[in-house]
Amino acid sequence: MGTAENLLEVRGLKKSYARGGGVFAEGGGVRFAAVDGVSFDLARGETLAIVGESGCGKTTLARMVLRLIEADAGEMRFAGEDLRAAGGEKLRALRRRMQMVFQDPFASLNPRMRIGEIVGEPLAIHEARLASGERRERVAAMLGRVGLEADAMRRYAHEFSGGQRQRIGIARALILRPQLVVADEPVSALDVSVGAQVLLLLQELQSELGLTYLFISHSLPVVAQIATRVAVMRAGRFVEVGAAEQVLARPEHAYTKELVAAVPAG
Ligand SMILES: Nc1ncnc2c1ncn2[C@@H]1O[C@H](COP(=O)(O)OP(=O)(O)O)[C@@H](O)[C@H]1O
Ligand SMILES: [Mg+2]
Repeated sequence: MGTAENLLEVRGLKKSYARGGGVFAEGGGVRFAAVDGVSFDLARGETLAIVGESGCGKTTLARMVLRLIEADAGEMRFAGEDLRAAGGEKLRALRRRMQMVFQDPFASLNPRMRIGEIVGEPLAIHEARLASGERRERVAAMLGRVGLEADAMRRYAHEFSGGQRQRIGIARALILRPQLVVADEPVSALDVSVGAQVLLLLQELQSELGLTYLFISHSLPVVAQIATRVAVMRAGRFVEVGAAEQVLARPEHAYTKELVAAVPAG
């Protein structure tokens, strides 16, 4: 660990839960590993896609990386810093450098807040001394960058389509200029063509802003559009990791071959 070009380094990450999640499982209940010893490096500027079927542990992994849930075991380094050991002000500082784009743009935007407040909220929290006029300008510029009109600021989430809402979610994630963006199934709730446009936007923003992506999806065609590297996840483990072209075109692991064969041709 500790290579300068790696933004994120993860070793042996584990998280187990009580099977069934029941209250009686605590103490003596059967536990299972939702994430069972995952290791990977994420180089600056790349897009590592984690692909796997529903329930294989993708979201649990994403949430551990962002310290939204605590791992049971393993190591994580972000820009060389011990991410698991960080607390207090240190963690707060690290957190603003990594942001999440959620699967469900409908559920992740507060229906009672105007879009300007939603996108500006991270600035209000982390750059509280920013003058309100300047905050508005930063929000307006970011909304413009994701393809929304300036009057979106005054409107509410329900007034927008699914694709537009995901653009709002992206604007909110990027307003603090993070280095790492963890996108958990960001286009799964969208129609294919709308999702493809959002993927294109994510790619443009990546090269403009020098972003590094950890991109989670259950869809191989989506992964093929955006990933530079692919990790195939099954039952809490990575079964195959490699360059996207290699993993998708010449899979080595039997499970990856099954996934690739299951994608309808065309
Ligand atoms: N808080 C939790 N309590 C108990 N079980 C959980 C919890 N979160 C996730 N799980 C279980 O862990 C496994 C992996 O879930 P998840 O990470 O959401 O998978 P994915 O995102 O790949 O669909 C699933 O079996 C899920 O039911
Ligand atoms: Mg998930």
